[in-house]
Parts: sequence; structure tokens; C-alpha cells
Amino acid sequence: MSTVSLSRLDREIDELAAISAHPAPAVTRVLFSAEDLKARDWLRARAKEAGFHVRQDPVGNVFIRWEGSEPCLPAVATGSHTDAIPNAGKYDGVVGVLGGLEAMRQLKEAGHKPKRSIELIMFTSEEPTRFGIGCLGSRLMAGTTSPEEAGALRDRDGRSLEDLREAAGCRGNLGAVKLSTGAYRAFIELHIEQGPLLEEKEIDIGIVEKIAAPSAFRLLLKGVGGHAGAVLMPERKDAFMAAAEIALLVEKAALQSGSPDTVGTVGLVEVKPGAINSIPCDVKMEVDFRDTNREARDKALARIGDGTHAICARRGVKIDWQVINQDPPALCDPALVKMVEAKAIAAGFSTSRMVSRAYHDSLFMARVCPTAMIFIPCFNGYSHRPDEYSSPEAIAKGVEVLAGCLKELSLQ
Ligand code: GLV
Ligand code: MN
Ligand code: MN
Repeated sequence: MSTVSLSRLDREIDELAAISAHPAPAVTRVLFSAEDLKARDWLRARAKEAGFHVRQDPVGNVFIRWEGSEPCLPAVATGSHTDAIPNAGKYDGVVGVLGGLEAMRQLKEAGHKPKRSIELIMFTSEEPTRFGIGCLGSRLMAGTTSPEEAGALRDRDGRSLEDLREAAGCRGNLGAVKLSTGAYRAFIELHIEQGPLLEEKEIDIGIVEKIAAPSAFRLLLKGVGGHAGAVLMPERKDAFMAAAEIALLVEKAALQSGSPDTVGTVGLVEVKPGAINSIPCDVKMEVDFRDTNREARDKALARIGDGTHAICARRGVKIDWQVINQDPPALCDPALVKMVEAKAIAAGFSTSRMVSRAYHDSLFMARVCPTAMIFIPCFNGYSHRPDEYSSPEAIAKGVEVLAGCLKELSLQ
């Protein structure tokens, strides 16, 4: 990658990071917040500057298209997301979007003439922050989430997806988001690893073969509130104490699943009424639970379900268990995996095949078209935190491999 494009991409990553609800180095860009909308405008402007055509679908997925000489052929796609969870870093998702844009610009500047169109997709809400469900845009594209399910989504303030998307200027029926069969020839996502393996082994390019199966559930626990001084311990139906036991059960189920890849996280707990001298009567708790091995994950989830009901019965706490998602894992396309590997080796980069423990829009794109992922190392494996970092050189290698694949696929 030339020094000019390296510094262009580096500068753009910084410019986008500055559009954030929290001060640097943190990045926070929640779906359809003022920052998300500003970031979308900023991205559209960069795409138009580069001479690409931009359109948006009804849920706000953005498509940046370089028309090929045979526009009726299924396009070759790349992309990722620019939304960011609270206090995230500046590389998660962004490397795939701005790196994809850079790959397209480089090919154009080098005089490449694509036969198939090349499209960069900025997916809506890969992160679950606003509506509790991740990969909203790609789920709708793949038809995994129905327009009715999406239309019923409400955020914590009770605002519906329908209202928010309309306010964000996304027009049309959500049913129109679903892709038709054969819409894309291939999809390749460039992403930071979000784990430590590539850096530890000093490997330039990770080639993803499989994406772990994510699941999430929400528990609404209803106990009985009261005065923290006056209600004696044997009389209590404390919703938070039930939640605390359930949280430890989640940890135990993950540790004892028999699969080293099971991970369980209680990432959100809301306690009401939320006063030091008041017994908690209501708890909302959200749990993220994943594995590369779907059977191991589902067995552990069943154990958590049984245990949770036993804990709540013993404590006299009522429970509403809501499944947010329980997705299967995805396999990357073997031919694309080989292509990514060949491009990386030809460029002189070291490679390693691996699994993605994080989920990505690729998990759903893999249901619609042949899909692959290119991973690059990140500092200490840190992600979803402000000190997330990938060097410009590491990013440039990922972009080079991506550009090589887009070039070859766009000529097929
Ligand atoms: C994606 O951000 C994930 O949580 O895996
Ligand atoms: Mn993320
Ligand atoms: Mn991501």
C-alpha cells in the first residue's frame, strides 16, 4: 500500500473516531444517535468524493457501489459497521468499512476495470446497544429476523425502530431489506481480531474458517421490595439476590460446559428501585452466551434455564425469560478462504486459519452468499475498550489482501 493511501486511511480512521459521544480515546456511536447520523453523512461524503454511488435501504444499511462493466452480474461485496458500543475504540468495524473504501479507491486509482460491480456495505447496528440485538441490518438482509420482529423493537426509552429509522431518513418497508437469492457473488469482511492470537504468534493475517454461535437472553425478575432496615432476612424476596445467584450460575455453566470455547457474560443488570436502603424488587439482566460448538452451548443454556427456575422458586421471585437470539455458527466458504490465504501468502504475509469468537455481519451474510473474513492483529487482543489499537501497517496488510480478493472476484 502506498504511503499516500496509508496516511489517507489513517487520517480517516481518526476523523471518524472524533465523531463520538464520549471524548477520545473512547468512541461511542449508538445506532441512530446524533453521532451515528453524523458518521453516516461523513462516510457518504467520502464515498461520493471517491466517485462511488451511494444508496441506503429502509433499515439504514448503506451501500457504496462501484459499477462494473456488467452491472447485472451479482456484485462482489465487502464491509462492516461503524456503530460503536459505549466507550469502545476506533477500529472495531471501522477497519472493515474504511479499509474496504480504501481498497476500492486503490483499485480505481490503479486503473482496475471491474466486470462485476464492487459494493461496500456499512451495516446498520452490528452492535446490540440500542435494541439489545446485534447485526440488525444483516439479520434483515438474510431474512433471519422478520420485518415484523424488527418493527416491534423498542429501545430502553420505549422508542421504536420504526420511529427512529424514520427520523433518521430511512424510507420504505422493512420487508424490502431482505436480499434476493444470488444478490452477491461473495462477501469478504476485514476486521481486527479482537483477541490476542495473531499478535502473540506474530502473524499478519488471520483467515477465518468459522464464526462462533452467539446467543443472548434477557431475564426480568420480580421480587418484593421493602425497607432495608425493617424487613428481616428470612422474609425477603430480593430480586437482585436471585440475579446474583443466576450470574454465578452463568459463569459455572460456561466453565463446566466441557468445551473450552464456551463463554458467558452478564453484561447488563438494572436494579430497581435503585436506592441503598430499599430491597430490590425488579431486576433486568441480559446475558451473552457463546461457543464455536453449538451443542455444547445449547446444553449449557439448558442447564442455566433449569438452575434459574430453581433459584427463583426457592427465593419466591417471579421470572420472565426472553430469548434475544440463539444463532447457529457460520462456516466461511472454502474457496474464498483459499483465495484470501493465497493473496496473503503471495504478498509475503504470514497467515493462520482461525475461528472468530466475536460475531460479525459475516455470520448472516454467510447465509446469503459465499463469505470469508480477514483478521488483522490488534494490541493485546483488546477490543470494546478505548485502548483498542491496530497499527497502520497491520491495517494496510489487511487492505492489500482485501483489494487483491476484490480485484480477482470482480473479474470472474
Ligand atoms: C460483536 O461486537 C460481538 O459482541 O461479538
Ligand atoms: Mn463490536
Ligand atoms: Mn465489529
